[in-house]
Amino acid sequence: MKYMKAEPFRIKMVETVKKTTKAERQKWLIEAGYNAFKLKAENVYVDCLTDSGTSAMSNRQWAALMMGDESYAGCRSFYNLEESVQDVFGMPYVQPTHQGRAADYIMAKIYCEPGKYAIGNMHFDTFRGNAEVLGAIPVDYVIDEGLNTGSAYHPFKGNIDLNKMQQLIDEKGADNVCVVIITVTCNNNGGQPVSMKNIREVSELAQKYNIPVVMDSARLAENAYFIQQREEGYQDKSIKEITKEMFSYCETATMSSKKDGLVNIGGLFVTRNNDIYIQANQLAIVHEGFITYGGMSGRDMEALAVGLQEGCDEQYLEYRINQVKYLGDRLKEKGVPIIEPTGGHGVYVDGRRFFPQIPQHEFPSQRLVVALYEEAGVRAVELGACAFGSKDKETGEPIWPELETMRIALSRRVYTNSHLDVIAEALGDIYANRDQYKGMKLVYEGPITSLRHFTAGFELL
Ligand code: F0G
Repeated sequence: MKYMKAEPFRIKMVETVKKTTKAERQKWLIEAGYNAFKLKAENVYVDCLTDSGTSAMSNRQWAALMMGDESYAGCRSFYNLEESVQDVFGMPYVQPTHQGRAADYIMAKIYCEPGKYAIGNMHFDTFRGNAEVLGAIPVDYVIDEGLNTGSAYHPFKGNIDLNKMQQLIDEKGADNVCVVIITVTCNNNGGQPVSMKNIREVSELAQKYNIPVVMDSARLAENAYFIQQREEGYQDKSIKEITKEMFSYCETATMSSKKDGLVNIGGLFVTRNNDIYIQANQLAIVHEGFITYGGMSGRDMEALAVGLQEGCDEQYLEYRINQVKYLGDRLKEKGVPIIEPTGGHGVYVDGRRFFPQIPQHEFPSQRLVVALYEEAGVRAVELGACAFGSKDKETGEPIWPELETMRIALSRRVYTNSHLDVIAEALGDIYANRDQYKGMKLVYEGPITSLRHFTAGFELL
C-alpha cells in the first residue's frame, strides 16, 4: 500500500460552495455582531465551525436510510443499531437519544447529586450545563501538559491527573464525589486522546471508592486509533478490540453520534448496568421518545448503525487523523502557534501566542476567528475567553480560562487538502501581519454565561 496515501474514498455527489468578496464578508461580519455562529452558512467558503453533524455519509449509509423502519415501538432499525453499538462498545444496553446532550442530560440526572463533585478531564459544555442545573460541581483534572499549548511532546494530553483526583477524594470524602467522566478524545484542549493506561488507572481508583465511571465517547474511534498508534502493546489490536477494552473500564457511556458515528443527528446512552438502563428508559420516554427510538427516526438509526462501523475502519481513521496532522504541519511551517501534537478532530491555534499584544479580556482568539473569515471566508470557532470564561458567583468578577484557542474543526470526509491549504495560506498571511490587529469588546452576552458564545455580540477595538 506504499503509494496509497490519498483519501480512501471517491466523491459521488458534490455541494457547491460560494466564493465571496472581502467587502461582502466585512458587511456580513458587522450584521453578525462579529459572532461566527450568526453568519449564514451559505456565506462561508470552508466551514470549520464544528465537526459535529457535518460528516458526509457514504453510499452504504444513504442506502441504509431507505431501510428505515418507522414503527413507534420495536422497529427493526433499533435492533440493527443495537447490534452495531454492542459490537463497538461491548456493552449490552442501548438507549438512543436525539443527540449527545440529551444523553448527557439523562446521565447527569442519574449520576449527579446536588453539592457533589463530578470529576472529568475536561467536561464538555453540555454536561457541565446539565450538572450545574442539577447542583453538582464539575471539576476538570486534565494533566498539566494538557493545559500548556507549548509543552514538550506528550502522546496523551487528554489524561486525567490521578493525584488531583486522589486529593479531592481525600479532602472532600469519596461520598462527595458522585461520578468520574472521561471524555475521549478531550475536545476542550485540542481533541487530545486519553491512554488506555490512564482509563484503567482512573477506573481502578474510582472503583476503590465505589465511584461510578462514565465515558463521554463522541470521538471514541479517534481515541482508539491514537491508542493503537501511540501506546505500547496495542499496535496489533483492531480498533474495535481497543474500543471494547476502553469501555470495559466504565459503567456507562454517552455519545454524540454526530461525530464518530458519521451521521448528521443522533445520540446514545449505553450501559452495562440493567438498573441504570431502566432509569434511562424512563427518562427517555418522558424527554426523548419511546425506548426503541429515543428521538431518532428509524432511517437515522439505520444510517448510524452503518456509520459506527465505518467510523471504526482503520483506513478511514488513518486518513482522518493524518488530514488533521496535514493542516497542523502546514500551519507550523508558517510559524502559526498550535496545540501540539495535533489531536483527532481539528487544529487548535493558541490565540495568546498568535496575538501577544491582545490581552485575554479583549478576546484574542475571537479576533482571529473574525480575521480568518474576513480574509478567506473560513469559519472557525473561539474556545477561549468568550466560550470558557465564567464569573465569580459572589462578586461577578470575570474568571478567564487557562486555554485560549481558536479551533479549526474538520468535518469528516468533507473537505480535501486543497481546502486545508486555503486555511493555511490565509492564516499564514494573517500571522505575518499580526502586529496590525487590535482586540475586541464584548457588547452583548445572554443571561447564561456558559452559553454566551452562541449569542454574543462584539465590536472591534
Ligand atoms: N460531548 C462532547 C465531547 C461533545 O464534543 C459534544 C458536542 C457533546 C457531548 C454534545 O453533543 O452536540 O450531539 O448534543 N460537541 C460539538 C462541538 C457541538 O462542536 O464540539 P451534541
